[in-house]
Amino acid sequence: MKRTLLLVGGCAVAAIAAYVIINSTSDTPSPSAATPDGAAMVQIQLPPLEGNAAIGQRIFDNACSTCHGTNAVGKEGAGPPLIHVIYEPNHHGDEAFQRAVALGVMSHHWRFGDMPAVAGLTRGDVAMVIDYIRQVQRANGIH
Ligand code: HEC
Repeated sequence: MKRTLLLVGGCAVAAIAAYVIINSTSDTPSPSAATPDGAAMVQIQLPPLEGNAAIGQRIFDNACSTCHGTNAVGKEGAGPPLIHVIYEPNHHGDEAFQRAVALGVMSHHWRFGDMPAVAGLTRGDVAMVIDYIRQVQRANGIH
């Protein structure tokens, strides 16, 4: 009788140990398919930029790329790509860019939250940013 109890007890311990081992191995993180924060959201071709577009690129780097990514390719966890069919001239004309910078944007296309207004830029500065964005859009088939 005592032997049987011991045997049953032993089995229970073994079962618990096996359970813990199986569970802990299944807890090890599996490689995630999710894109990490900060990653670019689109792949683009950068055309040669001159004049106002080249100045616009520098302004964009300073004032916009923290959210929209370098060359407006978007940034996971921060902001959308502007080299994107959503922002083609017929859907978001140049005035939409001026308004976005001057007044900010209520989130409506994406899930990054609102865009705050960006201080310190004139309409002329933004016009150069638009020149730059449109050139990169055109080079990537967005008209
Ligand atoms: C703090 C982050 C942040 C900064 C800085 C920022 N943006 Fe944005 N912007 C966003 C987000 C987020 C959206 C998307 C809102 C939505 O869900 O539609 C957006 C949307 C836009 C849009 C689309 C407007 C519309 O009508 O839908 C334009 C154009 C734009 N940004 C231009 C710029 C430019 C140009 C700059 C720099 C001068 C800039 N943004 C700086 C976060 C930012």
